[in-house]
Amino acid sequence: MNKKLIVAIDGPSGAGKSTLSKALASQLGYLNIDTGAMYRSVALVAHQRNIDLQDSPALKSLCADLSIEFIQEADSERVFANGMDVTSAIRSPQISLLTSQVAACKEVRDAMVKMQRQMGERGGVVLEGRDIGTVVFPDAEVKFFLSATAEERGKRRYEELRAKGMAVNLQQTINEVVARDAADSERTHAPLVQAGDAVVIDSTKLTIDEVLKKMLDVVKFREKNRA
Ligand code: DC
Repeated sequence: MNKKLIVAIDGPSGAGKSTLSKALASQLGYLNIDTGAMYRSVALVAHQRNIDLQDSPALKSLCADLSIEFIQEADSERVFANGMDVTSAIRSPQISLLTSQVAACKEVRDAMVKMQRQMGERGGVVLEGRDIGTVVFPDAEVKFFLSATAEERGKRRYEELRAKGMAVNLQQTINEVVARDAADSERTHAPLVQAGDAVVIDSTKLTIDEVLKKMLDVVKFREKNRA
């Protein structure tokens, strides 16, 4: 039997990580862990409790008591924070901006990394985020870095939000993507960087199916060669 691996998918927002990691996990029969949803859950709960996002001790204690669960259903994946279904609430533009601030806090990162390692240590997982191949699982058997131009990523985000019925503006959405890229790459703790041994895929001009096929080929090859 092929060995079940740890697959790390990193890259900026809007590069297609969520869609692809879900599809890849489903094809492989692996568990999908959306680590961005974990940081988003911290931001949402902090916001609901009126916690100042600069208050690291308060964020640390919030994380100490926070439970995050991913429930996989036939055609959707739901996220629960402290037993509350937060799947939609964590995706609003307001929470997206707050999440960048929360994700810059070292205490929050330490708590999330610990949780992610516990969730993934037995293998058979696809984890998607920004620091999976560099910090969370630097020894992951397969690492991907997905990228696409900021304009293309902003366009995808815009279409996604519009499809959900949200009133959004294209240029503003592109600007938000650029602002989040800057915040994610320039922060002191675990900034977004590409692992030296990651397989880099630029998805600007590729369809989801084309990228998925490339990824599946790499994972199947590694599965066989590590079995
Ligand atoms: O992938 P996403 O857009 O849901 O991520 C939300 C935010 O969380 C984004 O600002 C980047 C941050 N994040 C992070 O710092 N580290 C991760 N492993 C995942 C997400």
